[in-house]
Amino acid sequence: MSRTAHETPGVPEPRTAAGKNVVQAELAVSEPVMGRPAVAAADLAREGYLVYDPGLADTAICRSEITYIDGDAGILLYRGYPAQQVAEKCTFLQTAHLLTTGELPTGAQEERWLARIAASTLPANPVWGPLFDAMPAGTHPMAMLAAATSVMTSLAPDGASAIEQAGFDLLATMPALAAHAFARVEDRPRRPYDPSAGYVENFLHMCFGDSPVATDPAMVHALETLLVLHADHEQNCSTATLRLVSSSNAGFFSSVSAALSALWGPLHGGANQAVIEMLQAIRDDGGDLGKYVAKAKDRNDPFRLMGFGHRVYRTFDARARVIREVAREVCGKAAHDPLLDMALELEEIARNDEFFLERKLYPNVDFYSGLIYRAMGFPVEMFTALFAVGRAPGWIAHWTEAATAPERRIGRPAQLYTGPATRDLQF
Ligand code: CMC
Repeated sequence: MSRTAHETPGVPEPRTAAGKNVVQAELAVSEPVMGRPAVAAADLAREGYLVYDPGLADTAICRSEITYIDGDAGILLYRGYPAQQVAEKCTFLQTAHLLTTGELPTGAQEERWLARIAASTLPANPVWGPLFDAMPAGTHPMAMLAAATSVMTSLAPDGASAIEQAGFDLLATMPALAAHAFARVEDRPRRPYDPSAGYVENFLHMCFGDSPVATDPAMVHALETLLVLHADHEQNCSTATLRLVSSSNAGFFSSVSAALSALWGPLHGGANQAVIEMLQAIRDDGGDLGKYVAKAKDRNDPFRLMGFGHRVYRTFDARARVIREVAREVCGKAAHDPLLDMALELEEIARNDEFFLERKLYPNVDFYSGLIYRAMGFPVEMFTALFAVGRAPGWIAHWTEAATAPERRIGRPAQLYTGPATRDLQF
């Protein structure tokens, strides 16, 4: 075993077998059903090494049976089923059953499942009206959802023994919370929660009342498809946050609240809002797309094309293809949206540009989903909250899996210390 890589203090230089130092150690290998095998970091630790992996891009933080992504092929599987097949054939709540229990429900199971969700009293809890009213004007809907889900800790049974009920409560309550946030942001009247209506229909009705958007089957279908395609995405930033928070034995709703905060960021779920704001800014600046593509390519300019690129996908992801078509349909029905033309033109430019091709940067789900939400009449601040409604099944499934994992340990990453070496105060 050569340890020369460790001898120089300070910021470590990455080295490879082709470089100066080769580390030799016997490492246990775990083979997944699909995907890259993993070596045990503990075996490297025994040899005195850490794994240095900023962004955790090459670190498996858990074993998981829920979702699989092949980023090179653009494949996303929910419990083995291609997500686009699920989106075509299943409702959002059937998808939630699949993700959280492992299988799609039979007829009788589905009836019981829907009844459990409809029986939750949390969506109509009287605390929500005063709570949302108390939020200062300008509070972002994601901050509202993070606060409200945290409050759920004191309204419903929580923790590992109550996770089944907590999951039903979350599925039932997320649309109601998002509708409260919408009413607060838009200063609209609140409409009652009606569990006898379909999940998506109920949500749209809580937001828009009897306006055509809430009853148009094309809009209902578009939102259902979006919810299904957002339902889980394995160890993304917010789900990994949920797992990390839950590892300290924090409750389910606190973990969800933390996940919502992680999802809010513009590099993650917040990108759907950022895309529309970017397109509006380009339009307001004269609409010169070439100028903004050049800015995105300039390494000295922090500007990035929002809605492009992904940590895992190195091609068009399957979800983005479906959502692109839904965007075309929905935007075709609504009043003409010049931002859609601009988005399609920008996509065309970027997809033929060497910079984006070399780096395999393709439009992601967030590039198109905002256009759909906009066509439905949601303000941009609501977009990430709609993503969050869709992600609830994934968070329930991952929280449950983490809580029952045989390898469960508190999450506690290591670091490479690069500060001053030990020194004594000189006075
Ligand atoms: N515009 C311009 N350049 C980009 C972009 C972009 N959107 N995304 C990546 N790059 C460049 C990046 O600068 C780097 O270039 P270089 O090799 O010259 O240094 C190269 O591509 C690799 O990018 P990276 O930053 O190492 O990739 P990452 O895996 O760390 O980040 C990302 C992934 C999604 C944060 C990033 O692509 C990004 O910021 N995209 C825009 C925000 C966005 O759309 N986020 C939504 C992601 S999908 C929804 C979700 O599941 O969260």
